[in-house]
Amino acid sequence: KQRVLTGITTTGTPHLGNYVGAIRPAIAASQEENNESFYFLADYHALIKCQDPEQVHRSTLEIAATWLALGLDTDNAVFYRQSDIHEIPELTWLLTCMTAKGLMNRAHAYKAAVDANRADGEDSDFGINMGLYSYPILMAADILMFNANKVPVGKDQVQHIEMARDIAQRFNHHYGEHFTLPEAVVDDHVAVLQGLDGRKMSKSYGNTIPLFLTEKQLKKHINKIKTNLLEPGEPKDPDTSTVFQVWQAFATEAQTAEMRKAFEEGIAWGEAKKQLFELVNSQIGEARERYNELLANPAEIERELEKGAEKARAYAAPFIDRLRQAVGIRKIG
Ligand code: TYM
Repeated sequence: KQRVLTGITTTGTPHLGNYVGAIRPAIAASQEENNESFYFLADYHALIKCQDPEQVHRSTLEIAATWLALGLDTDNAVFYRQSDIHEIPELTWLLTCMTAKGLMNRAHAYKAAVDANRADGEDSDFGINMGLYSYPILMAADILMFNANKVPVGKDQVQHIEMARDIAQRFNHHYGEHFTLPEAVVDDHVAVLQGLDGRKMSKSYGNTIPLFLTEKQLKKHINKIKTNLLEPGEPKDPDTSTVFQVWQAFATEAQTAEMRKAFEEGIAWGEAKKQLFELVNSQIGEARERYNELLANPAEIERELEKGAEKARAYAAPFIDRLRQAVGIRKIG
């Protein structure tokens, strides 16, 4: 069996990028017979960027409701909250002591924060906490705790999976073969979904289209996608257009080919956006209703998460015991 694992950080409301980059492929993978799925809410990761307790809590509910509304079968998949698995921070420490500092210096998220400080003329470490610096180690622990083979993620996370492999290799080399080396699974067809302003769709840029807006708000957001000033009838370049890119992430190949043709024939932006709204809405409309029901009933979400925590800990607890023995903090046998 192949073990598939992925997580979403609980800051903010899930958006179309999270859906096409992670949730949709993960749910599809969970329905394949040969897979065992572990999907979780990365709430320890949230604390790195968000120190507003109310927001972390709200986001945890929203992201949990999203997975459930989209049809994740929790009898089949293990669906849990990272912070319910106490073995994860423990494993993080074991891995921290096996991780080269130089590896963390190269992590994108940390480097981007340093570069931004330099550009602003600040001290390079200004405002950077140790959580951000060692974030890839916590992520490695998430993955290695369950010996995942496959990790479906968007392209922005690939480096972190490679780091998890590096860390696992180093641990295995020193203490014996304990960890499976994970592989990132990226849907190349989708790539990194662009946001309203054409940059990567990201909570940090405030350019997202949340997944479960009301129809009216969804329409409004899609209308806000930045386009160039070409008039109806003027040919438009699909390959540089966010409208087209989002279309492609939701459409069948035939629909994509049709839209490409429409672009070349100069479809009006208003019309293209109207069609995009209809396409996205038709795919998420039903789940939206279920999502709203779930949010109104947090006790149901909590029950699901408790069930998942129990299943996840049944794997994690014996494994961490074995690792404690491997590193010598528990006597073997
Ligand atoms: P996060 O919460 O930023 O994003 C969750 C998932 O959504 C994908 N994604 C995108 N995909 C395509 N286009 C976009 N614009 C876009 N924006 C986000 C991300 O690639 C990700 O797959 N550190 C991780 C969470 C995490 C994790 C893990 C993932 C913690 N531990 C272990 C996998 C395995 C993060 O912050 O993702």
